[in-house]
Amino acid sequence: MAEKVLWSGRFGKGPDRSTIEFTTSFGVDVRLAWYDVMGSLAHAHMLAKQGVLKQEDADKIVEGLKTILSEIESGTVELAEDSEDVHSAVEFLLTKKIGEAGGRLHTARSRNDQVVTDFRLFMRDAILLSVEAVVQLQSTLIDLAEKYKDTILPGFTHVQHAQPITLGFHLMAYAFKLQRDAERLIDSYKRVNLCPLGSAALAGTTYPIDRHMTAHLLGFERPTGNALDTVSDRDFALEYCFASSLCLMHLSSMAEELVLWSSPEFGFVEISEGYSTGSSIMPQKKNPDVAELIRGRSARGTGSLMAMLTLVKGLPLSYNRDLQEDKEAVFRAYDNTVSCLRMMSGMLAEAQFRPERMNSSLKGGFLNATDLADYLVRKGLPFRQAHEVVGKMVRHCIDMGIGLEDMTVQEMSGFSSLIGPDINEFISMERCVSRRLSYGGTAPAQVENQIELGRSNASIQRSFCEVERKRLLDVWNRLIYHE
Ligand code: ARG
Repeated sequence: MAEKVLWSGRFGKGPDRSTIEFTTSFGVDVRLAWYDVMGSLAHAHMLAKQGVLKQEDADKIVEGLKTILSEIESGTVELAEDSEDVHSAVEFLLTKKIGEAGGRLHTARSRNDQVVTDFRLFMRDAILLSVEAVVQLQSTLIDLAEKYKDTILPGFTHVQHAQPITLGFHLMAYAFKLQRDAERLIDSYKRVNLCPLGSAALAGTTYPIDRHMTAHLLGFERPTGNALDTVSDRDFALEYCFASSLCLMHLSSMAEELVLWSSPEFGFVEISEGYSTGSSIMPQKKNPDVAELIRGRSARGTGSLMAMLTLVKGLPLSYNRDLQEDKEAVFRAYDNTVSCLRMMSGMLAEAQFRPERMNSSLKGGFLNATDLADYLVRKGLPFRQAHEVVGKMVRHCIDMGIGLEDMTVQEMSGFSSLIGPDINEFISMERCVSRRLSYGGTAPAQVENQIELGRSNASIQRSFCEVERKRLLDVWNRLIYHE
C-alpha cells in the first residue's frame, strides 16, 4: 500500500489497512473526478506558461489528463479504488500513463486547494441544476394556478376555515416561496464562483504562479483573496445546504397539504396512480407515499445542514481532515433536493384537483363572516361593533345547526336593521373573493398579476441558468480543445 499513497517518503512502513480504510474518501469524492482533471488541466497550462513546468512535460501532462477525461466521460476510467482520495487516484493514473512527468503536476499545489477547487466547480453545476428543478416546479404551479384562478375553496388559518380564497391563489403562494428559494441559490453562486487554486497548502506558494490565469481558465470570477481562509472555508457549501433545506421545508409543507387534501375527509385532490402506492394487506388502499416521502426526506436536508454546521464549528485554521466529511453531506443534500423537486413537480402536474369538493366545503364554515361585518361597516357601523353583531349571528347559527347562508334576510335583519336584501349577493363566496383586490390578494385579477410576476421571475432564473451553462460549456471547450 505504501507505494499507493502520496506521502510515503517520511514513513517507514506506511499506514495500517484499517487506517487506510478509515481515512479514505475515494468512495465519495470519486464523484469529483471530472472536475479534478479539469482543475489539473488549468494548473498544468498555467505552470507551463509561467515557466514552472517545461513545455515538454506540460504537454505530456495535458495529453494524459485529456485521455483520463475522456475515459471518465465514457465510463471506462480505471481509478484505483483503494486510493486515499480522488486526487491521489487521478495523479497515480496519470503517472501510470505518462511516467515521471506525472509527478511534476503537483508542483505549487496542495490537495488542500485542489479539493476545494473541485468542490466549488461541482457546486456551480449543482446550483444550476437545483435552480432548474425549482423553476420547473414553479412553472407547474403557475400553470395550475392559471387553470384554477377562479376555483374557490376555504382558506385556512390554524387549520380552521378562515376566508374563501381561490385555488390559483393558494398554488401561487408556493410559487412565491420557491421564487425566494431560487433567488437564494442564485445569490450564493457568486460566492461559490471563486477560484481557490494556488492557495496551496495554506500559505500560498514560492513559485511564480498566476492565480488569475487558472481562475480564468476554470471560468471562475476571480481567485479567492486569502489562502488561509480559502483552504479552511466551506461556507459556500453551507449556503447551499441552507438554501436547499429551506426549499425542502417548503416542499414538506406542500407535501403535507397533499397528504391531507387527498384524504377522503378533504377530498380536494386525487393524486394519480403513478405517484401513489398500495397496501399489502388492505386491498382498497391508495396511499400518498410520494408526498409522505418528500415530507420525510426534508429531514435529509436539515440533517446535512446540521452536519455541516457542526463539522466546521470550532475548527482552528486552516485545513483539517474533518473537512473531508463535507462532501458526503452536501452530495446527499443535493441529490435529495433535486429528486424531491422533480417528484413534486411530476406529482402535481398529474394530480386531479376537485373543485366540486372544494365548493361543498365552503358551506357551514362561516367563511364569509368577515365580509358580513364589512357589509355593516359599509353601512356605517364601526368595525368593532360589526364584529360583535356578526359574532352573535354565528353563535345563533351554531346553536341552530345551520350556516349563515341558511338564514333569511328577515332573520338577519333581526340582528341589525342595517341588513337589507342586498346581503345575499354581498356575502356570496364569489363576491367575497372578487372583492379582495388589494395588491397580493386573492381576487382573480390580483392572482393574474401574481401569475405574470411569477412567470417573469421564473424566466429570469431560467435564463440565468441558460447563460451560465453556455458560458461554462465554452470555458470547458476552451480548456480542453484550444489551449
Ligand atoms: N480527501 C481530502 C478532503 O476531502 C483531500 C485533502 C486532503 N489533504 C490533506 N492534507 N490530507 O478533504
